[in-house]
Amino acid sequence: MDKLLIQGGQSLRGEVAISGAKNAALPILCASLLSAEPLNLTNVPHLNDIATMLRLLGEMGVGVTMEGVDGLALSGAGLNNPVASYERVKTMRASILVLGPLLARCGEAKVSLPGGCAIGARPVDQHIKGLQAMGAEVKVEHGYVHARAQRLKGARICTDMVTVTGTENLMMAACLAEGETIIENAAREPEVVDLANCLVSMGARISGAGTDVIRIQGVDKLHGATHAIMPDRIETGTYLCAAAATGGDVRLTRTSAAYLDAVVDKLMDAGCDIVIERDAIRLKAPQRLKAVSLRTAPYPAFPTDMQAQFMAINCVAEGVATIRETIFENRFMHANELMRLGADIQIEGSNAIVRGVPALEGAAVMATDLRASASLIIAGLVAQGETLIDRIYHLDRGYERIEEKLARLGASVKRVH
Ligand code: UD1
Repeated sequence: MDKLLIQGGQSLRGEVAISGAKNAALPILCASLLSAEPLNLTNVPHLNDIATMLRLLGEMGVGVTMEGVDGLALSGAGLNNPVASYERVKTMRASILVLGPLLARCGEAKVSLPGGCAIGARPVDQHIKGLQAMGAEVKVEHGYVHARAQRLKGARICTDMVTVTGTENLMMAACLAEGETIIENAAREPEVVDLANCLVSMGARISGAGTDVIRIQGVDKLHGATHAIMPDRIETGTYLCAAAATGGDVRLTRTSAAYLDAVVDKLMDAGCDIVIERDAIRLKAPQRLKAVSLRTAPYPAFPTDMQAQFMAINCVAEGVATIRETIFENRFMHANELMRLGADIQIEGSNAIVRGVPALEGAAVMATDLRASASLIIAGLVAQGETLIDRIYHLDRGYERIEEKLARLGASVKRVH
C-alpha cells in the first residue's frame, strides 16, 4: 500500500494549476445515462473516483473514450444494463448518482445501497423519497434499491435536509419526467449548478439551480452536448491552507474564488493576504496564523469538506479555535492523528477545541478519509522532521497528482510503495 513521506519545514512558494472538480464531474458523468447522444467533457480530473465511476458506467453499456489530456466522450447509446453492483458502489458512495438517471431513461434501476461510511451513516432515504414522489415504485431488498416507473411524473419534493447528491439525483431524474418537478430545500452548491448547466446544454429545462428551489420541466429526450467541468473549489482551498500553514506565497491558476467566499474570509481572518484574479488566486501568509473558529453548514456557508484542513492550520495558529461540524456526525477522525503530531485538540460532541501550539513534530499517521488525508499533509508540511502518512488511497480518490503539485511548490513529499 502506498504511503506519503513528508519532510516538513518548507514554505510553499510558486504557482500550480487546479484540476476539474471531482464533485461536479461525478454527477456530470452520470448525466451521460440520460441521452443516447454523446456527451463530450473537458477538464475532467484524473482521480480514482472518476475511474470507478467510468467503470460503473461502462458495465451499464455507456461507451467511454478518452480525448486529449483531460477530455472524455461518453455515449449512452448502448445503455442496456441498469444495474450498479455492491462491488462498485461499496468503494464510492457517489455511485448512488446513477439511480435517478437510470430510472428516468430505462424505467428501472437496481442500485446497491452505499452502506456505511467512515464519516457517518449517510443514508439515501431522501433520494428514494423523492423518486417515490415522482411515481416510482421502490423496494429495498437484499441490500439493493430496486426502482421502477413506466415514466416518472413531475412532483413537488421538499427534502428533510439539504443533500447535495440527493438534489443532483432528483434533478437528473426530473429532466425526463412528465411535467414539472419542484425541488424545495435544494442544495445550492456550485457543483449542483455545474450539473444543471450541463443538463441545460443537453436540452433540459431547469431554472433556479443555485437557489433552494429548483424547477425542472420534463422533456421527452435529451441530446448530446459539450461541457467543461468547473474548477475544484476544495482542491483550491486545500492548497490555500497548505500555503497559509507553512508561511508560504502561492498563486493557484485555472481556478476561481467565486465559490470560495467562506474559505477566503476565514483565511483573511487568520492573517493571510489574498489577491483574487479572474482565473487565479494568490495567497501570502503571515509569519504565524491567528486561530479562526468556524461552523460547517451547506453552501454558501463554510464547507464540511474544508473542516479538516482548517483544523490542521489551527493546530499551529496563535490562540484557541472552536470548530463545529454540523453536516456529518463522525468527521473528526483526523483529530487523533493530528494529536500524534503534537496538536492540542479536545473533542466535545460535534465541537473540536483546538489550542494552537508553536510547532508540530513529524510522526507516522494514518489517513481515515479523503479530507482527513489532506489535513495530515498540511500538518506534515508544517511539522519538524519526517511524517509518514499511511492509507493514502483515500487521497488518490480526490486529489490529482498531489505529490507532484506540492513538489512544484517546493515541498519535500515522496510517495513510497
Ligand atoms: C456531498 C459531497 C461530499 C460533501 C457533502 C456535504 C459529492 C460526491 N460528495 O456528499 O464531498 O462532504 O456533499 O457537502 O458531491 N442525508 C440523509 N439522507 C439522504 C441524504 C443525505 O440523511 O438521503 C444526510 C447525510 O447523512 C449528511 C447530510 O444529509 O448528514 C448531507 O449529506 P449530503 O449532502 O447528501 O452528502 P453527499 O451528497 O453524500
